[in-house]
Amino acid sequence: MQTQPPFVFTLFGATGDLSMRKILPALFVAHREAKLHPDGRIICVSKQAFTRDDYLDWVSQNAAQFVKGTTPVDPDDPVWTSFLARIDYLALDLIEPTGYLRLAEMLLDCKVGLVFYLATSPLLFERICANLASSTINLAQARVVLEKPLGHDLLSSHAINDAVARVFSEDQIYRIDHYLGKESVQNLMALRFANSLFEPLWRRESIAHVQLTIAEQLGVEGRGEFYDGTGALRDMVQNHLLQLLCMVAMEPPISFDANAVRDEKVRVLRSLKPFTAEDLELRAVRGQYVSGAVNGQSVPGYLQEPGIGAKSQTETFVALHAEINNWRWAGVPFFLRTGKRLAQRTAEIIITFKPIPHAILPMPFGPSGAMSNRLVIRLQPDESIQLHCLAKQPGDGMIVQPVALDLAFDQAFDQRRAEAYERLLLDAIRGNLSLFVRRDEQEAAWKWVEPLLHHWQTNASPVKPYMAGSWGPTASFAMMARAGAQWPEDR
Ligand code: BG6
Repeated sequence: MQTQPPFVFTLFGATGDLSMRKILPALFVAHREAKLHPDGRIICVSKQAFTRDDYLDWVSQNAAQFVKGTTPVDPDDPVWTSFLARIDYLALDLIEPTGYLRLAEMLLDCKVGLVFYLATSPLLFERICANLASSTINLAQARVVLEKPLGHDLLSSHAINDAVARVFSEDQIYRIDHYLGKESVQNLMALRFANSLFEPLWRRESIAHVQLTIAEQLGVEGRGEFYDGTGALRDMVQNHLLQLLCMVAMEPPISFDANAVRDEKVRVLRSLKPFTAEDLELRAVRGQYVSGAVNGQSVPGYLQEPGIGAKSQTETFVALHAEINNWRWAGVPFFLRTGKRLAQRTAEIIITFKPIPHAILPMPFGPSGAMSNRLVIRLQPDESIQLHCLAKQPGDGMIVQPVALDLAFDQAFDQRRAEAYERLLLDAIRGNLSLFVRRDEQEAAWKWVEPLLHHWQTNASPVKPYMAGSWGPTASFAMMARAGAQWPEDR
């Protein structure tokens, strides 16, 4: 059990959706599990003119429902009320420097770790940081946590990073990518770097291709206006999918130290093969859902969702064929795919190994790629690792059939699995940067996706429609076929 340092956690944007759905529920669970120091305090900041009591009622009404568990949290439960006792509320205009003096009065004499969590629009990051500096509360023991999206392209991310860097040093800046907080993503590191089995095979000589899918059944969920200006490439690929790709492709770091891990990730991002004009057409697919049915329920198309422009060309689906130009991976396709309103909610990584060079036994499906060994790392909804191979069917003759060696984590371990935000917030409180994104990583990721952003903005060919509840546009299957591969649903 790690020791819990005392802290003051200041949450900007404390009445917003993210605070209610993720941050306060995660802090509550950490409190319930006795992972927060008893003296740890939470200062919630927003411009709404609430009293503390009003705000606590608001939190009980809006955040308690998002605490995951078998039974809903009862706001009269003493554990919940003891959590609320940690919270103070401060109404202030985030733009105006004067209000920050009140925050300074609450913080200046603090000797404990300070976390400033900016759960606001990134447009406010520069002002908030400047105001923290002008009221001198950017103290040495302070850390600032930044939520994505950090900008909408390389230039705007530079501007935000420069503004924050004027106030905080890089080792005080915690850029959150909640995918890195997922237990299963860390398990991927354990799989690779705590076992000797995989390393000799983890390279171009043995691996035919890698597929990374994050599929959602949800649509834009009341975030239409934000999403329409963002799209799946910025919302999911530039950050979550590229971080997963780094976890699969990086070289073993020299240690688990934050910078050692991040050095290796940035090398992968910098080795991504830039898109050529031909790749932009043939190795990238963007789609947008039209009405259909998900889980038997009819759902509207993207253009019918509230807040979406009538002729919007924003992509809700992306499939890419990427490559990494280094000795380990040259020529190995990395297929990335994400989309909203797809057939299932799933996040998985499939490593497909090269087929055997010569079959001496009759093969069940003929000598095709579908016969290859596959390592399937399922991140959600359930966590598992499966190794698909061929085994002899019992009985006469020598008939081989596919079987899976299956490791289901929920059966292997009975400990509670922490949610991504809980893990990351505790890391920010403890000052552990390993699972946060460094500036150079983030900028390398923007640099790689930018030609695609630009191409899609300026290119007249429209987004490809796909029916809600499907696996995306047919162009995504065609992209795979051109590379001699298939998505799992097509197998
Ligand atoms: C967020 C995106 O970063 O990740 C959302 O902004 C998306 O659009 C979400 O729905 C997916 O996260 P998870 O953990 O539910 O897979």
